[in-house]
Amino acid sequence: MTIKKTILITGGAGFIGSHVVRRFVTNYPDYLIINADKLTYAGNLENLADIESKKNWLFEKTDIVDKQSVLELFKKYTFDGVIHLAAESHVDRSITGPDEFIFTNIVGTLNLLNAALASWKSSPAGKLFYHISTDEVYGSLGKEGLFTEETAYDPKSPYSASKASSDHLVRAYNHTFGIPVVISNCSNNYGPNQFPEKLIPLAINNIKIGKPIPVYGKGENIRDWLYVEDHASAIDLIFHEGKAGETYNIGGNNEWTNIDLIKLLCRIMDKKLKRPEGTSEMLITYVTDRPGHDLRYAIDSSKIQNELGWSPIPEFAEGLERTVDWYLANEQWLERVLSGDYGKYYDLMYSGR
Ligand code: NAD
Ligand code: TYD
Repeated sequence: MTIKKTILITGGAGFIGSHVVRRFVTNYPDYLIINADKLTYAGNLENLADIESKKNWLFEKTDIVDKQSVLELFKKYTFDGVIHLAAESHVDRSITGPDEFIFTNIVGTLNLLNAALASWKSSPAGKLFYHISTDEVYGSLGKEGLFTEETAYDPKSPYSASKASSDHLVRAYNHTFGIPVVISNCSNNYGPNQFPEKLIPLAINNIKIGKPIPVYGKGENIRDWLYVEDHASAIDLIFHEGKAGETYNIGGNNEWTNIDLIKLLCRIMDKKLKRPEGTSEMLITYVTDRPGHDLRYAIDSSKIQNELGWSPIPEFAEGLERTVDWYLANEQWLERVLSGDYGKYYDLMYSGR
């Protein structure tokens, strides 16, 4: 079969990246997808075990901070597009150890931009560097208002500052060197395959094993939750239909205080685990707040809805139920992630290839 496009997806073994790789591999059999990932603690090739046998994707173990490796990747393949998801992504880790966030999120993005520039400068037409970012670059909202594409950047954590910095670099490379770029800024994702250090999978696991559910501060912080496959569908649409040079905000129009979300999750878990109503709520434990904890994120996604016709699908309760079902049906995935054994999947499947 003739290959129509060769696309580099970075971070494709992570939570969102694995859903994007699966979507592209499945929906575009005439694309060749190169999944480049360092396989940090958050990268797990088992996330893609169900598409292991598909012939239109390859895995390249690559650290984007290593300039030489990135240049070699761009020599080995002629990429028509890059979808850049690789990042350090957990706010709490960025507070205890910011350095890795600066290396991967800023230097790693710079290395990819430089390699794309070198590879595309003679014929940039038709190429696209798509940078996946977060709504956290906009900072924190009060009780009112929504983040639009025009909201000024005001990042408050080392994570969001590193993502803001990478967004600026991507726009600067577009403006200065003419690389075609597009950026999307998305709200909090949830769904299958999320590493259990983030709120929802952490709470699901703790409820399952009867451990306290740590709620930071008073649980009054608000997040706008989006099902991960809705993010993947938005990325697909923006990659194919988005206008180069533009930014698109992606959100679920689905704001929840952390405590209300946890209470809903507790009710779903009681039902699924056939425990008396109220059992899981007893595990809620208020703990010391995260330093500099952003109060509220909420996205105005009218631009992508109106211009590209995107809309999110499952209702939150339904998406949450699907997520709980997935975690309960994939206990071994969770056990291997929690024990750190998931690295063995790479050794088994890929070493010696
Ligand atoms: P994740 O932490 O689950 O996955 C990140 C992936 O990047 C992992 O597979 C990891 O191995 C890889 N990686 C990390 N450092 C690397 C390096 N130096 N070289 C190569 N690969 C490396 O993250 P996620 O939640 O899937 O987020 C993916 C992207 O989406 C990130 O850019 C994040 O900022 C953005 N985003 C996430 C959310 C969310 O709610 N999770 C919301 C909006 C935007
Ligand atoms: P998280 O999933 O870490 O995403 P982000 O910080 O990027 O929004 O956290 C979501 C919200 O849940 C955030 O307000 C912090 C809060 N939180 C807790 O209350 N307890 C926890 O154990 C975690 C991980 C997060």
